[in-house]
Amino acid sequence: MPQPAAKPARPDADLIAALEAANIHPLWDRYKSITPMTPAARDAPMHWRWRDFDPFAARAAAEVPIEDVERRAMIFVNPAFGGQTVTTANLIAAFTVLEPGDHAVPHRHTAAAIRFATRAEGAVTIVNGRRCEMHEGDLVLTPPMCWHGHINEGERRTVWFDAANMPLVCALDASFFEPGSREAHEFWKVDAGEERLWAAAGLAVPGAQAPDAHSPKYRYPGAETRRMLDAVAPGPDGMRVVRYVNPRTGGAVMPTLDCYAVRLGNGAATAARRTTWNTVCLVVSGEGRSTVGDRTFEWSRDDVFTIPHWTWASHAARGGDADLLLVTDREVYARLELAREEAQR
Ligand SMILES: [Fe+2]
Repeated sequence: MPQPAAKPARPDADLIAALEAANIHPLWDRYKSITPMTPAARDAPMHWRWRDFDPFAARAAAEVPIEDVERRAMIFVNPAFGGQTVTTANLIAAFTVLEPGDHAVPHRHTAAAIRFATRAEGAVTIVNGRRCEMHEGDLVLTPPMCWHGHINEGERRTVWFDAANMPLVCALDASFFEPGSREAHEFWKVDAGEERLWAAAGLAVPGAQAPDAHSPKYRYPGAETRRMLDAVAPGPDGMRVVRYVNPRTGGAVMPTLDCYAVRLGNGAATAARRTTWNTVCLVVSGEGRSTVGDRTFEWSRDDVFTIPHWTWASHAARGGDADLLLVTDREVYARLELAREEAQR
């Protein structure tokens, strides 16, 4: 067998070796890794079924005393991230479990987060001194550095969905975390407070104090979201979309998280789309199928799946309408002028 001819040494091999020894890299032999032609997600799309997760909720409630932990949350992890606690790039998604009477102590951090009430009747989140009840389908923001704590005031176990951007903040090494006190009894003795000023779309109080950085409205009731999804006309592919917005700006609810409620009509699949941003999907109601990259996910209520960036995704409901919550880091990309989207017709 003839041996393949040895690759001739490149004429600049000695120079490259000398540069590397001096901790200098030439651009010309590695520009494809320095400036990739397109994004390439590390993670394959992934799907976690509620029915597989549900037993862990019961076990965590039984085996993990809330007094011993900051949060009784269980975070979905894609092994593509090498054991790091990451659901898809920049984002984590989780479920948090509280037993009746449990308090999850106040804290605050530079990461941005949202909660979405799935099985949370009786739970309350307090954000910056405002009591935010968690009824079916309610979205509650916990913006960066806002104090927040949770309590289950009901008589049954509560479970809600969480999403946050700890992986992004940690990649930027800009995570600050401040624990609150378990003895801060006053923290829990609040009412809705100024949340009332932002409760009604189209009505604003002149001069009301509001932060520049994120939405002054923290709670987005599920009943209103469902009414909006009923009212909005479906797009050409049957998909209805409602965006959660900052009522002052009409933009994303937070500088780093952008959330959408989607209703899929029965039957037809949506046009395949891919985006430079990352998306975590929670199945709010109904059943259906999503094709994400080369995977197909058959999903039902409270399942979670990911759409990694620049990965084609298409969705179809089955047996009736289906509602999804999409939590994205789109706003990060938009602020950096990196938001791009493509659709197949
Ligand atoms: Fe938190």
